[in-house]
Amino acid sequence: MSVTSQENDGVSQASEQSLTDEVLASFAGAASSRVRQIMESLVAHLHAFAREVRLTQSEWENGIEFLTRVGHITTDKRQEFILLSDVLGLSMLTVDINAPASAGATESTVFGPFYVADPPEIPLGGDIARGAKGTPCYVSGTVRSIDGTPLPHAQIDVWECDEDGLYDVQYRDGRSAGRGRLRAGDNGEYRFWSVRPVPYPVPDDGPVGDLIQAAGRSPMRAAHLHFKVDADGHRTLITHIFLAGDDYLARDAVFGVKQSLVVDYAEHPPGTVPDGTRLDRSWLSIEFDIVLAPGEEDHS
Ligand code: BEZ
Ligand code: FE
Repeated sequence: MSVTSQENDGVSQASEQSLTDEVLASFAGAASSRVRQIMESLVAHLHAFAREVRLTQSEWENGIEFLTRVGHITTDKRQEFILLSDVLGLSMLTVDINAPASAGATESTVFGPFYVADPPEIPLGGDIARGAKGTPCYVSGTVRSIDGTPLPHAQIDVWECDEDGLYDVQYRDGRSAGRGRLRAGDNGEYRFWSVRPVPYPVPDDGPVGDLIQAAGRSPMRAAHLHFKVDADGHRTLITHIFLAGDDYLARDAVFGVKQSLVVDYAEHPPGTVPDGTRLDRSWLSIEFDIVLAPGEEDHS
């Protein structure tokens, strides 16, 4: 490298840095110190990224065009920006920052886009499948606080896809299935019927799907059952259970798997089920105890 080009490199590095400094300084007057902190950090990292990869003009244009497509496909029913955050691991990182593993408490994972507020109430031991197709799956356990105290009447919302990998909100006929709300019993015990969760792809027919494909990644999520659990004086828990042995545990599209949430299950032939009635098809059972950390409930 000639002395002149070294000097030029030095000159352009200095001018890149002074641009970054100028943008950083532009947030000095922000009324909120948190806005200032976030914007300064975002700009510092964005500029460092562009410098590190020596971002070309056409790559910048591709990036803008990609984000424009993410915006255009987003509606009140489809949130492609959250999906983008999910597949980049930002959603899971935010979960880990805000719901850090608390000694002995059940770990949290991503919320996902398929929760419906105030799902249909089902009795203890009832069936949340409510017409969703799949192998019957009986789930039971207790809800406790980290000191072991049972949490009677904890509210448990559960939602899942059917055997075709579809949530009810993806059905064309608008019917509700594969979700429900139950209350734990007097000793924190809970039980319900559902269907065996199966792996399914995150919505991959949009720009985020193109990104996943360009990366040579799979759009599949490991099979799971979603839980949202609330009890007075305890932090709301948003989590899943995953099935041991699932093919996608190590390559979940949204990085949501935690080893502590992977559960063993038992497979049963047709016969008598826990409530003493008979079932003429094979079924599964899962035991999963839920431990909540003391704290503020999330009322959002
Ligand atoms: C889900 O588990 O329902 C989900 C999570 C993130 C993206 C898409 C789906
Ligand atoms: Fe899901």
